Order: sequence, then C-alpha cells, then structure tokens
Amino acid sequence: MAIDKKFIDKFRQVTSKAALAASYLVGKKDKIAADQAAVDSMRSELNKIDMNGQVVIGEGVLDEAPLLYTGEILGTKNGPDFDIAVDPVEGTNFVANNLPGGIAVLAVGEKGNLFNAPETYMHKIATGEIDKGLIDLDYPLEKNIKNLSEFKNKDFSSITVCVLDRPRHKKIIDKLKDLKVNIKLITDGDVLGALYVSDPKYNVDMFLGIGGGPEGVLAACALDAYNCHFQGRFIFDNEKDIIEAKSMGIKDLNKKYELNEIVKGDSLFCSSGITTNEVLNGIIIEGDKFISETLVTHKNTNFKQIVKSINSINE
Ligand code: FBP
Repeated sequence: MAIDKKFIDKFRQVTSKAALAASYLVGKKDKIAADQAAVDSMRSELNKIDMNGQVVIGEGVLDEAPLLYTGEILGTKNGPDFDIAVDPVEGTNFVANNLPGGIAVLAVGEKGNLFNAPETYMHKIATGEIDKGLIDLDYPLEKNIKNLSEFKNKDFSSITVCVLDRPRHKKIIDKLKDLKVNIKLITDGDVLGALYVSDPKYNVDMFLGIGGGPEGVLAACALDAYNCHFQGRFIFDNEKDIIEAKSMGIKDLNKKYELNEIVKGDSLFCSSGITTNEVLNGIIIEGDKFISETLVTHKNTNFKQIVKSINSINE
C-alpha cells in the first residue's frame, strides 16, 4: 500500500521544526548541541503522527543513541507501518560554523522498503535520468564521463561533477582535472551534493565519491522521485563493520546496490533548510513566526516541490 498523501504535510512539518530547533544553534560552534536540538524536536514531532514508524536509519544503536536509535518505534501506533530514516542535521559543521548547507532530512518508506544502512561509508554515483547501463559505479571514470557527455551532447568541458573534498578522492579529482571536466567540490553535505543532479538548474551532471552510507539511502529516496540514476556500494574495511554487516543480514559485502534495491515501492522525502544553500533557504525568524523551506518529494503522487511555510514558533 502506498503512503497516503495526507502524510506529506505532517512529515514536512517534522523537518521544518527540526530545522527551526537547530537554527538557534547556528554559528555557536557546537555541532553536538545543534544535532541534539534537532533530534529532540524530530523525535517529539514524529511521535505525534498517527503511524507505527520504525527507525531504520537513525542516530546509531540504542547504546550510543537513546533518541532516534535504529529500531526505535515512533508515532501514536495508530496508523500505517512505516520505515523511517532520519538525519536531523545533515552538515553539522555548516550549522556550527554558520555556513551554507545545513539541512534537516528524513525519508519514509513502506515497512520493509528502506534499506537498513549500516553506519559505514558508501561509494556512490548519481546522475539525472539516463538510459539503463549508461553510467555505472564499476566503469572507469573516463568511460562514465564519455557516456554522459555523448548522452547529454555536451563537451567534457561543459560537464560538472560534484565531489566531496577529501584526500580519499585525490585520484578522482586529478582524473577529472586531466579530462578538463568542471569539478564542484563540497566540504560536507553529500545528501545535497547528490540532490544537485535532480535539476539542471543546479548545473551538476554527476555526483561521485565516498560518503556516509545512511546519507546515500536518504539521497536515493529523493532521487527516486526524480527518476534519477543512483548506485551505491558499502565499504566494509574493518572487522567491526564486517561483523555488523553480517549481523544485519548483508551476505555479499561487495554488492553494488541499484536505487530500486535501496528504496522499494513508495517513498516520501523531506529536507528543510537550516542555513541557506543552493537548494533551500534557511530558517528565518520574524517575531513569533518562522519561515522555512522544505524540499518534499512523494514518489507515488509524483509530488516534487520546494514548500515554503510560515508557522508560529510556539504552535
Ligand atoms: P555530519 O552532518 O554528520 O557531520 O555529516 C556530514 C557529511 O559531510 C556527510 O554529508 C557525508 O556523507 C559525510 O559527512 C562524509 O564523511 P567524512 O566527513 O568522514 O568524509
């Protein structure tokens, strides 16, 4: 059964309020406090929704995270069964340092349909809608760029690839430079990085590289609504992560996941701006009201919109 569209606004309010809660900590150099404020708000708002929601991606396991831990049941328990993935503050450095790009994010799927991602890195690739087999995580970078440039009828020099600025991406960045491809380096926040491929207005043709696995699942939910291409492969490079993956039932540790294996069926995605970025304006407080912007996607109703709302802070 699909997610009823009556839930769109309810979940939108959850990320809006989490963004508001974190906004009081913008520029306070305390990413833990900012995250905590958003976690508290998100949890209390999710608990008001008539649903039986289970956190599949949260703040960690129960021992590490008493709130929004993986497996926690949320909602009034008087409603449909959902899988919930949350990242109350994505881009904690941005919020702590008052830089563009802090967002509050959540994704909702039908029960059993969102991938229960381990807390490991994931190798990711994303583009807009393309022909099947055109771009692949396993192709050499040059082949992916060539295929995309032919498909889009653009020179290499007109292609832009977004990559997290990390030493682990040196080879990718050097290769892109050699190919004369434009590079858009981001210092954090690869959910937004991946989302850039969803709309030509952001001028990013491909997102590539290694970032958080949970962030990969969240981005995949939004990209699914835009019919984008996304593939991810988790990286299990130490004994602890390998044991955890096995305990989660992941048999093939080297498996490349297609988008429809990460997000199945219907899904809903909400991301509200905390600090202003290329996609969303951040929270603005005016008297006892706050203005928020949320990117909302709902796969089944093909709803994809940036929703601006003005609400009372004390509502
Ligand atoms: P936080 O908001 O949890 O700090 O994550 C920010 C982020 O940049 C993610 O967007 C990204 O997936 C991950 O960190 C990359 O991890 P690392 O900083 O270890 O390279």
